[in-house]
Amino acid sequence: MHEETASNGLDVIFSAETIAERIRHLAEEISARNIEQLLVVAVLKGSFVFAADLIRAMHQAGMAPEVDFLTLSSYRKSKVSSGKVEILRDLDLSVDNRNVMLIDDVLDSGRTLAFAKDLISARGAKSILTCVLLDKRLPRAVDVHADFCAFDCPDEFVVGYGMDVAHRYRELPFVGRLVSGD
Ligand code: IMP
Ligand code: MG
Repeated sequence: MHEETASNGLDVIFSAETIAERIRHLAEEISARNIEQLLVVAVLKGSFVFAADLIRAMHQAGMAPEVDFLTLSSYRKSKVSSGKVEILRDLDLSVDNRNVMLIDDVLDSGRTLAFAKDLISARGAKSILTCVLLDKRLPRAVDVHADFCAFDCPDEFVVGYGMDVAHRYRELPFVGRLVSGD
C-alpha cells in the first residue's frame, strides 16, 4: 500500500483502487438498464474526474453515450451550501425527448441535483436518471434521490477525485477528509 495519510493533512476515505473497482461495477449496472441513446450530463465542476472515469467504464461495458456538461454553483468558496443554485455554464445540447443521466459528485442537501433535474425535465427530457459518486444520506433539504451511487459517504466535508475546497485538492486520486483544521 502506498496510500497517502494524515502526513499531508488528509485521510483517505476511498482509495483510487477502491474507486476504480466500484466504478467498473457501476458501469455494468448502468449498462444493464439498456437505455437507448443515452445523453450523459456531467454536473461540473466537482464531477469531472468521476464522469471521465465512469464514461470510460461505460465504454468498457459496451455503451456509447453522448456527453455534455452543465456547470452549476452552490458552494462557492465556503464549505457550507449557500442554498441557492446558479447556472454558470449551460448545456450545448438539447435534452428535448432525450434519455438523460445526470452525474454529480456529492449528494448532500439535494439542492444541486434537484435543480439540475428540474431544469432538464422542464426542457422536455424523456427520462432522467441520476448517478452520484457519494451519497451523504442525510435528511435532504429537498426530496431527491440517486438512481446510481458509487458509495455512501460519511457526513463530513470530503475532497479529492475532483472535489475541492476553494479550488484545491481536485487533483488527488482518492477521496479524503481534511484532518488538520483549515
Ligand atoms: P447539495 O446541493 O447540498 O446536494 O450539494 C451538492 C454539491 O455540493 C455537490 O455537487 C458538491 O459540488 C458540493 N459538495 C457537497 N458536499 C461536499 C463535500 O463534502 N466536498 C466537496 N463538495 C461538496
Ligand atoms: Mg458538484
